[in-house]
Amino acid sequence: MEQIGDATLYLGDCRDILPMLGKVDAVVTDPPYGIGIAANPVRQKHVKRDWDNSPPDQSVFSLISSISADQIIWGGNYFGLPPSQGFLIWDKKQPQDFSLAMCEMAWFSRQQPAKIWRQSVISYNKQHPTQKPEPLMRWCLEFLPDAEIVCDPFMGSGTTGVACMQGGKKFIGIEIDQNYFEIACRRIDAETRQPSMFTHAPKPPVHQSSLFDEAADSLGSFNDAITEVSRRYKSGEPIPPTCKYFKPLGDTS
Ligand SMILES: C[S@@+](CC[C@H](N)C(=O)[O-])C[C@H]1O[C@@H](n2cnc3c(N)ncnc32)[C@H](O)[C@@H]1O
Repeated sequence: MEQIGDATLYLGDCRDILPMLGKVDAVVTDPPYGIGIAANPVRQKHVKRDWDNSPPDQSVFSLISSISADQIIWGGNYFGLPPSQGFLIWDKKQPQDFSLAMCEMAWFSRQQPAKIWRQSVISYNKQHPTQKPEPLMRWCLEFLPDAEIVCDPFMGSGTTGVACMQGGKKFIGIEIDQNYFEIACRRIDAETRQPSMFTHAPKPPVHQSSLFDEAADSLGSFNDAITEVSRRYKSGEPIPPTCKYFKPLGDTS
């Protein structure tokens, strides 16, 4: 076990360690999807491994929900989880004819409208074959503004932990592979050492209705706002300055 600032990191099997943890506010995780990606020869940079050859057992998801009030589970379309309205989608900004997935889905325990984060999969460096982008994981945490302690039982290179450090949350991470565990320790340690560029009190997610209300105020009516914004969005034109409140979710500038 390593304690690094507000992060407690376990090297081991989450099936052994989760039952020993107390309650956490939320589990935000990215388990193996069971699609063999870690052994995929396309990922030429990374040593081939077998951890993604099968998804975790249902018992792991029962354990996760028994210790946490909220869960965001990437790859939620693979695990037979109960129906939920609150999917979070990562649009990887791939061309239409790209041979690999153009998006990934996270299952969210909260009933809320589905949301999309758009960020190219080649816009950041990876030390782990399925490493998530840090802004994506910060965006996930914005949906959990009250969560003070977040656990990731399939931590990989520690991206959830880095996002927690950036967002001022306590983090508990578990990783079974020593190499990935050491990468996670280094990344989280580096994050705790530098002054945060991010606000430590994450802003609550911007609600679509208030964006439309604001845009409607400046454009005349609610319907005018929707029509104008979707026309410009589809044609690639910038959103007009009169719609200054209409910006992509996650853009907190
Ligand atoms: C999809 S990856 C997570 C990648 C992570 N989101 C990141 O940004 O680096 C899943 C990780 O779960 C780990 N893992 C698989 N089975 C595990 C288990 N039983 N307990 C803990 N970790 C496990 C794998 O070694 C792998 O690093």
